[in-house]
This record gives sequence, C-alpha cells and structure tokens, in this order.
Amino acid sequence: MRRRIRTIPDFPKPGIQFRDITTLLLDPQGLALSVERLLETVEGEIDLVAGIEARGFVFAPALALALGAGVLLIRKDGKLPGATIAEDYTLEYGSDRITIHADACAPGAKVLLVDDLIATGGTARAAVRLLRKAGAIVEQAAFVIDLPDLGGADALRAESIRVSSLVAFE
Ligand code: PRP
Ligand code: ADE
Repeated sequence: MRRRIRTIPDFPKPGIQFRDITTLLLDPQGLALSVERLLETVEGEIDLVAGIEARGFVFAPALALALGAGVLLIRKDGKLPGATIAEDYTLEYGSDRITIHADACAPGAKVLLVDDLIATGGTARAAVRLLRKAGAIVEQAAFVIDLPDLGGADALRAESIRVSSLVAFE
C-alpha cells in the first residue's frame, strides 16, 4: 500500500509533501486492496457512505456497493443544484467550504465518512458538523492515509468519531 502512494514535494505550495493516490489507483491490486481494507474497518449497519470531493468520491461508491448503502456527495461550494447547507474550514494549504443538499439524508441515517486522506482534520470535522446538522448519525470515518503529525485524526476522535486509516506518513 505505502509503496504504491507517491510523494511529490512542494505541491501545491513549498514545504508540502503531497501524498498522491493516483499511483495507488492506477494499480488494480492497490485499488482492490485499499477498498477491501477500508471495508474491514467498518462496524455495524451503514445507510449512506459520504465521500468528500474530489478524492473521497473514488472510494465512497466502492464501499457503498459492498455495504448495501447509498452514496452521499459532499461537494465544494457552488456545485450542488438544490437547496444546500454549508460549513467552512481551513486545511493544510488554504481554506474552503463544503456543502450537501439539505435533504440528502433522513434524520437518524447512519453515515460512514470516507476520504483519501486526513491531515489537519479541518475538512473531515466540517463534514461531520454538516452531516450532524442534517440529522445524520456519524460515528465512524475511514481514510486511506493519515498524516498523524497534523493531528486531524485525534481531533476527529475528540468529536466521538471512530477513525480508521490504512497508512500513516509521519
Ligand atoms: C485534501 C484531501 C482531504 C483534505 C485533507 O483535499 O483529499 O479532503 O485535503 O486535509 P485536512 O485534513 O487538512 O482538511 P483537497 O481539499 O486538497 O481537495 P481535492 O480532493 O479536491 O484535491
Ligand atoms: N491534503 C491535505 N494535505 C495533503 C497532503 N500532504 N497530501 C495530499 N493531500 C493532502
């Protein structure tokens, strides 16, 4: 898994070591293994798998199909056509806003959050706030990559989320 993830220095800004999953995705075994191992982390019934644009969209449908769940798209601002709710957040190299359709999940729906990577946790924490605002029950989140030095997984755990990841880069 680790050897299939490429590191590109100084992208998108000087000093950032960009952990690039495109090489993992190009490899059929790497792709299959990532999905299998993410699935192994899931506990209990899941109604919806929420993927965060853009790289979370790669994994969410694969997990949802295996879990018998639907896919909930968490999109960057201005992309969804219906009435939305939004959350702002900061990340390792900037700030952004994510949205979901206001009617995307039934109150009490059990939602698994999925993304390729957790760094500061700004994105994932905003996603949890957004999903909970919509009435979802969010108790677990799964990532391919954790950057533990940036503390995001711990910050998410502090919000009562069980956090799983497959590879850590110090
Ligand atoms: C990346 C990554 C996560 C987020 C993690 O997405 O895919 O969503 O950053 O960072 P954080 O834990 O510090 O919030 P990015 O915003 O670069 O968007 P992209 O998937 O569209 O490239
Ligand atoms: N998202 C936030 N930090 C990142 C990093 N270092 N590599 C890839 N995606 C990221």
